[in-house]
Amino acid sequence: MMPAANNIGPPRSFCGMKTLAFILFFVIMIARADYRVGVGRADCTGPAAEIGFMGYAKAAQKGCGIHLRQYSRAYVFDDGTKKAAFVTVDACMMHHGIKKAVLKKLSDKHGDTFTFSNFILSGTHTHGAPGGFLMDVMYDLPNFGFIQETFEALVAGIVRSVERALENMTDAKIYWNTGRIDGANINRSPASYLYNPEEERKRYEHNVDKTLTQMTIVRTSDGKAIGAINWFAVHPTSMNNTNCLVTSDNVGYASILLENSMDPSSLPGKSSFVGAFASTNLGDVSPNTAGPKCINTGLPCEEVRSTCNGEARHCIAFGPGKDMFESTEIIAGKLFQTAKDLIDSNTDEITGSIGYIHQFVEMANENAPVQLKNGTVVKVKGCKPAMGYAFAAGTTDGPGEFDFHQATNSTNPFWNVVRDFIFPPSPEDVACHAPKPILIMSGAIKLPYEWQPEVVPIQIVQIGNAFLTAVPGELTTMSGRRMREAVRLQVIAEGGPEDAKVVITGLSNMYSSYIATPEEYQLQRYEGASTIFGPHTLTIYLKKYRELVTALLKGKEIEIGPLPYQFPKQLLSLVPPVLFDLAGWFNNFGDCILQPPDVAHIGDTVRAKFISGHPRNNLLQENTFLTVERRTEDNSKWEVVATDSSWETRFIWRRTAVLKAGSEVEIVWEIKDNIPEGRYRIRHFGHYKYIFGGIYPYEGTTKTFVVQKKQAFM
Ligand SMILES: *[C@@H]1O[C@H](CO)[C@@H](O)[C@H](O)[C@H]1NC(C)=O
Ligand SMILES: *[C@@H]1O[C@H](CO)[C@@H](O)[C@H](O)[C@H]1NC(C)=O
Ligand SMILES: *[C@@H]1O[C@H](CO)[C@@H](O)[C@H](O)[C@H]1NC(C)=O
Ligand SMILES: *[C@@H]1O[C@H](CO)[C@@H](O)[C@H](O)[C@H]1NC(C)=O
Repeated sequence: MMPAANNIGPPRSFCGMKTLAFILFFVIMIARADYRVGVGRADCTGPAAEIGFMGYAKAAQKGCGIHLRQYSRAYVFDDGTKKAAFVTVDACMMHHGIKKAVLKKLSDKHGDTFTFSNFILSGTHTHGAPGGFLMDVMYDLPNFGFIQETFEALVAGIVRSVERALENMTDAKIYWNTGRIDGANINRSPASYLYNPEEERKRYEHNVDKTLTQMTIVRTSDGKAIGAINWFAVHPTSMNNTNCLVTSDNVGYASILLENSMDPSSLPGKSSFVGAFASTNLGDVSPNTAGPKCINTGLPCEEVRSTCNGEARHCIAFGPGKDMFESTEIIAGKLFQTAKDLIDSNTDEITGSIGYIHQFVEMANENAPVQLKNGTVVKVKGCKPAMGYAFAAGTTDGPGEFDFHQATNSTNPFWNVVRDFIFPPSPEDVACHAPKPILIMSGAIKLPYEWQPEVVPIQIVQIGNAFLTAVPGELTTMSGRRMREAVRLQVIAEGGPEDAKVVITGLSNMYSSYIATPEEYQLQRYEGASTIFGPHTLTIYLKKYRELVTALLKGKEIEIGPLPYQFPKQLLSLVPPVLFDLAGWFNNFGDCILQPPDVAHIGDTVRAKFISGHPRNNLLQENTFLTVERRTEDNSKWEVVATDSSWETRFIWRRTAVLKAGSEVEIVWEIKDNIPEGRYRIRHFGHYKYIFGGIYPYEGTTKTFVVQKKQAFM
């Protein structure tokens, strides 16, 4: 049975025309069963240079420009009584501080429209975007502390995207489509996966999920699709840890391709159609489908530990392409094509009312019953957050920099001394996390403030028979399968829709690293070592999400739970600001110091260089650091054909020697087949910081050059 919408109860008496009219009215209402839906997208690109990227935990990986901009994509749903929002952001993950700041800003204009409960904020998990926005010490450490600029850039873009969605509310139908994608993902910890029970593994064809789930939003007035949210389990790590250009990676590029295909004349990030590829149970899933090999010898890695001659740092997985750009393009192309093929299939219509539920949970205070093999039921406990040794080994998508390897069940005396110097785990902590050898007892450190969250938000947003299950971390493939099934069966058990559709929305609301199954945890590869609340993390989550379903469907109140840690106003930050910019004695900002050739051919790559200011002086959100422009046929004006968010362009910033204050940008434009012949120019826009204070705009333009087809020489 579908839970009846709150506003359409049955009439109480059956006498008279009035009642009949009422019945008729409600029948029509039910038959229409449309939602009001708004879609919105906004640029949330952070500081693109000299700020560390979040994801690979590699301190040396810092921004040097832009390949693809970051966007926030928002979807607001309204059933006439209740509203809910799903927002997915081109960032490594989302966190509580960001959500709090976004809700605060939205409340200034929209009152209590959005709360922790009816607002899901999810990160796509790109590893190619600036970090420092998480506040928790552990997570900001690789970025040298908290970075206000990244935080504010994300909040501003997210808020703008939601406001655009609110302005665009329109009658719409919602459809649920699924498709299959082959060759776009592999399991990066297959040895851990094999620890799951054989009976369970036998139920699935692959050790990763191959299904793309799509929620399509179709405007009622003209039957046109105005937006879609796609979920497919894959890490956006096609771009590896040597990349320094801001990128939304494979999923972000898939979004740009989808949006462009639905609105072909639009520039990236400007289409009316809003198409997202959001994260789901991608914990152990890599896009590097050629798999790991030893880069020093070319031989396969040792599989359980992912090492080459005992060292993890040589064992690296590669994508299907010849380099990381081509790999990104191939994976994005597969995601896009499958999503595009589904858009008009309108398989299953989503119907029914909107509901939501949310709770804060302190994992170390939770327990769950588990039945042992001999039939005895015991209670298992959650632990205080801790990271295992194998966390420091990294993964085959980006190995760590020290001498650690995955699948570690023993400790090293040297690192134990270091660990105990920071904070020694108690015997209870050691027992609770076993067999994880603890490297960082983050749950016991509050110096200078919280290292990893102890309290996490759990949340479900119900849109008719669709249940968006928001998880504050990265579920592995099997953890995700168990979670979806637990939620679905509980929905049915509580009298909810028999055809309940459940999707995991990953990296939502707060980040608490990984959630491996208790079985996978035993091998202590990266995902197990990063399952921070101990071996029973998933077991406890399953119990808690079932409780959420029950409360949601029975309309029961649940406790808010203990509030997450309150961070001090002043957060640790070791990232210096931009001091000032110098153009040098004989130059001005915006001077073109490398001109494109007079004639370029389709298929060529054109380069231009300009004297520049620091890109951190103004992030140019909703704007661009570059344009490629074409003179119109009638010679009346210049038309923009590409921006810094176009796949074909790269905006590269570098320091030059001038007193550590000089810099230049290189603009790279690959001339694709679809580019018409004609006259072109490249422009650069930026801001410089004057030595005596103030930030000022400047721009530069190349000379005009001709683009023509390659001559066939005979
Ligand atoms: C959203 O609103 C803007 C302007 O208000 C409009 O240009 C755009 O087409 C709308 N998008 C949709 C999907 O309705
Ligand atoms: C990253 O990818 C590039 C190719 O684009 C490759 O040359 C390099 O070895 C890779 N590095 C790592 C650490 O994966
Ligand atoms: C089942 O096994 C557990 C742990 O091995 C033990 O504590 C318990 O007593 C056993 N129960 C029975 C009924 O044998
Ligand atoms: C530790 O791992 C090794 C090899 O992976 C295994 O042989 C050994 O039994 C494990 N020890 C424990 C205590 O689990």
